[in-house]
Amino acid sequence: MSPNYNNIASVYDQMSFLVFGDIIMKSQVCLCKHIAPNSKILIVGGGSGLLLEEITKIHYSGLCITYIDSSSKMIDKARKRNIGKNNITFLNLAIESYLSNISFDIIITPYFLDNFNETSFREIWNILHNYLKKEGLWLNTDFNIPTKRKHHFLLKVMLLFFRITCGVETKKLPDIKKHFNKYYYDLIEEHNFVDNFISSVVYKKI
Ligand SMILES: C[S@@+](CC[C@H](N)C(=O)[O-])C[C@H]1O[C@@H](n2cnc3c(N)ncnc32)[C@H](O)[C@@H]1O
Repeated sequence: MSPNYNNIASVYDQMSFLVFGDIIMKSQVCLCKHIAPNSKILIVGGGSGLLLEEITKIHYSGLCITYIDSSSKMIDKARKRNIGKNNITFLNLAIESYLSNISFDIIITPYFLDNFNETSFREIWNILHNYLKKEGLWLNTDFNIPTKRKHHFLLKVMLLFFRITCGVETKKLPDIKKHFNKYYYDLIEEHNFVDNFISSVVYKKI
């Protein structure tokens, strides 16, 4: 079952800023230079849409973005963002229910794939993989499986919080990097933050 972020949508951005400062946004924005003009983009789990404003600073027009989030309150916030003259379709649904024959140039998953246990993650990863065209880019930003004690602890607290407030199912992170490395993807660029607890990676589908 998909998590429901409606309960915390009104305070989500402030909360994440409180814990990580501007790293959550910086870690997403650092990949945006890979967005080519006039791209067809799928953003999944974008939340309140802060990233849309950052993308608009780089491309004021010409992008065709499908923006999917399962929280109606997050989508309501995202709709109010400055999107310039880009063409954005907002869809309030779980990615598992999305059906389309569009092939995207770019898929963006910002702190989205960490919501799922290994089984659900693989299902969702496959869905997204099929929507990305050959040689398309997948910009993924997420938490890594921690190697440091303090990050283990922080992750436990975060997952417990999101389980109680949003019904996030997973008790440990899926191995996202391992999955990309195993299937059809070249690693193009990687940035690490917070002592490697967070990674922003550009993958190219081969
Ligand atoms: C941890 S938040 C990340 C929000 C934002 N990207 C950020 O970086 O702050 C995860 C987002 O994914 C959405 N979400 C969770 N499961 C989903 C699903 N199955 N399909 C689409 N969106 C989903 C939630 O509603 C939430 O907005």
